[in-house]
Amino acid sequence: MTTLSPLLKQATPVQAASGRGVHLIDTAGRDYLDFTAGIGVTSTGHCHPKIVAAAQAQVATLIDSQYTTVMHEPLQHLVAELGKVLPPQLDSVFFANSGTKFRTGFASLMGGVHLAPFPSPLRYGWDEQTAVTFALNELDFILQTLTAPSDTAAFIIEPVLGEGGYIPAPASFLDGLRERADGYGILLILDEVQTGIGWTGKFWAHQHCDIAPDILITAKGIASGFPLSGIAASSAMMSKALPGSQGGTYGANAVACAAAVATLRVIEEDGVVANCAAMGARQRSGLKKVAAGTGRIAEVRGLGLMLATEFSTADGAPDPALAAAAQRIAVEEGLLLLTCGPWNNVVRMIPALVINAEEVDAGLAAWDRAVTRALGQN
Ligand SMILES: Cc1ncc(COP(=O)(O)O)c(C=O)c1O
Repeated sequence: MTTLSPLLKQATPVQAASGRGVHLIDTAGRDYLDFTAGIGVTSTGHCHPKIVAAAQAQVATLIDSQYTTVMHEPLQHLVAELGKVLPPQLDSVFFANSGTKFRTGFASLMGGVHLAPFPSPLRYGWDEQTAVTFALNELDFILQTLTAPSDTAAFIIEPVLGEGGYIPAPASFLDGLRERADGYGILLILDEVQTGIGWTGKFWAHQHCDIAPDILITAKGIASGFPLSGIAASSAMMSKALPGSQGGTYGANAVACAAAVATLRVIEEDGVVANCAAMGARQRSGLKKVAAGTGRIAEVRGLGLMLATEFSTADGAPDPALAAAAQRIAVEEGLLLLTCGPWNNVVRMIPALVINAEEVDAGLAAWDRAVTRALGQN
């Protein structure tokens, strides 16, 4: 008998059957509030009628039109739609259908990549400015000792650390990166794979501060669940690459492109980013109420609807067991959530941008019950 490789592991026991908006229904008919959104993918909710219609129309017309072989209209429409939301200097876009991430167990990786400390005030036990000064000093030290500025092509950063624990990068840190990038002629690349397409309450997370990226990477929410990723840069920079040197069998698939065009239109026409900002504020204040007085929640943080609750022991150490218990019990309470962070002690919430106040409140009520039960078992 063929089995599914254990490499693929599910974070919940839920057997999904169908979805609508922020609701996911299992094969037994149980309705869950999905505050995972496929790890920040179903931006317009599950099976938004306009996305479904666009994808169905495209499926019936042309499913694949291999983009290194021929050009297709959904791709051209998508480039035009993205032009309306991308920073103006990023006027050239390349498409693929995935990204890269984890390191443990995968050595050796590409050489010449160095990791610099992220200014996380909670982790260091410092105020934000002290953490930023430390991280920028360490970056300067890396540029002095490990990779000279003349050997350094780019800085790459997520404006809000995703898998790293939903930690927004302080504006002064991004300013410091931009300043060094400009001073040395190094590129600044923003990975907006998880943060982009509205999830932080602005269309791009970096719009919370004043910096402009040289390259922006997008994926996940861009096509409401269809596989698509994109890299945007200036035409001048893109023109330095060898034409035809990059591509992929499934990159810029026509159905994914049609779904992405529909997604961007829904986001614009339905005021979805503003909804995210309002619902995010509501959810954040609810999460803070749940955290208050527990003595075991070190921080509630995030931007827009990308929100995190970080669990700690009574002594202030990371508490992955309590986070796992809260996440598992939340599923029993009908709320799908994921953990993240280096110690897996952070429970993240990233519901679809179209969530309404009633759904936010229902999610918060389930979360309150889950945290109370998890603390009771501890
Ligand atoms: C910020 C960020 N970058 C890159 C990736 C990798 O994308 P993929 O899972 O499609 O390889 C992820 C996935 O979660 C992500 O959150």
